[in-house]
Amino acid sequence: MTSLPILLAAMTGLAPLAAVAAADAAPVPPPSPGRTVFVTYCATCHGPEGAGLIGPNLTDTVFLHGGTREDIVKTISKGVDGKGMPAWESILNKEQISQVADHAFALIGKNLPSGMVAAMGKTTVTPFPKGSAVQPLLLRTFMPTQGVGDEVLPHYHRGLAAAKYSPEKGTDVAGSVAPVEGLTSGIAVSFGDGLAYCFDATECRLLYTWSGGFLDMTKYWGAGAGGSRAGNDYVPVVMGTPAYVTHGAEPVEIPGSADVTPRFTGYRKVRGVPQLEYHLGAVAFAQLITPGTAPGVAICAITTSGAVKGLVYHFDPQLSAQITCDKGRRDGAVLTLDAAAAAAFTLTIVPVAR
Ligand code: HEC
Repeated sequence: MTSLPILLAAMTGLAPLAAVAAADAAPVPPPSPGRTVFVTYCATCHGPEGAGLIGPNLTDTVFLHGGTREDIVKTISKGVDGKGMPAWESILNKEQISQVADHAFALIGKNLPSGMVAAMGKTTVTPFPKGSAVQPLLLRTFMPTQGVGDEVLPHYHRGLAAAKYSPEKGTDVAGSVAPVEGLTSGIAVSFGDGLAYCFDATECRLLYTWSGGFLDMTKYWGAGAGGSRAGNDYVPVVMGTPAYVTHGAEPVEIPGSADVTPRFTGYRKVRGVPQLEYHLGAVAFAQLITPGTAPGVAICAITTSGAVKGLVYHFDPQLSAQITCDKGRRDGAVLTLDAAAAAAFTLTIVPVAR
């Protein structure tokens, strides 16, 4: 859990799905109820053995939020706002939280080698990673804003300067490191040249899409086989042609409720494709984004639960023409879905006309 720059690199860093899958193959000790909860809900981020992946290593004895059992129950229940650790109190019941806290508490001091490092060791690092339509590649990395405005990012914490950390000394040293210029909770997915997108896990919103390439990670990984990065500018460069860049405040209105607070709960693979799962207020969303037949077309299949009075989308007028829906009633930039339509609908986003 070391110092902030190292942790940031670890939690937002290189976790392609292939690496996650490789880590899943680790030997499995006899299951306890807490371990079962952990493997189901926590392993995507902390690794199956808790040794860390995009979330920190829970097996060492350095704590960001305290190492007593009480601290751990609190961190699990309330999450860490803006840092990618979800609040579990509305997802797990008290008994499950207690069981998984027991499991996390028992991990302390096992000092397993960092899962991140192991995952990186199994990754063929190239500065130009790319997925394909059948095997999409997901990266959690700092992402450039690509012109997305502040009105899209009201829940973002701008970050503070952090103490400078010396890997050689293993401690903080004099000086400070400025926060990274870039989105800290971007999830970037590549389907090859047809489509790539950036979804933001803080705002729970598709930020932008593009075609014809993915990311140039040279600034993040260094050129060649990686590990030769110079400086603290981690933000990769988007390669290809922009297709869609979102604007405006949260487009989703939940009739009868003013609360559309976003809360990301994770992603899972559905036939190899990442499905993004989150809540806006009381409504649970699952969004599966796949490429269309033409370059840059994004097909966003959305299912929801809890939208008892339906949903209304207020698209930004500038973007309205790019977005169509297979259900509901459309009046200019406003899309109204009744409860039945809101349960499962598909938005198709076509590239901006040039
Ligand atoms: C979506 C990714 C994600 C998931 C899923 C997740 N975590 Fe976390 N977790 C994080 C991140 C990131 C942090 C570090 C937060 C910070 O920087 O303050 C963290 C921090 C923690 C900490 C605090 C570590 C410390 O040093 O104080 C504990 C304990 C923890 N998580 C347990 C869990 C448990 C138990 C689950 C499952 C119920 C879980 N996490 C699920 C991402 C996740």
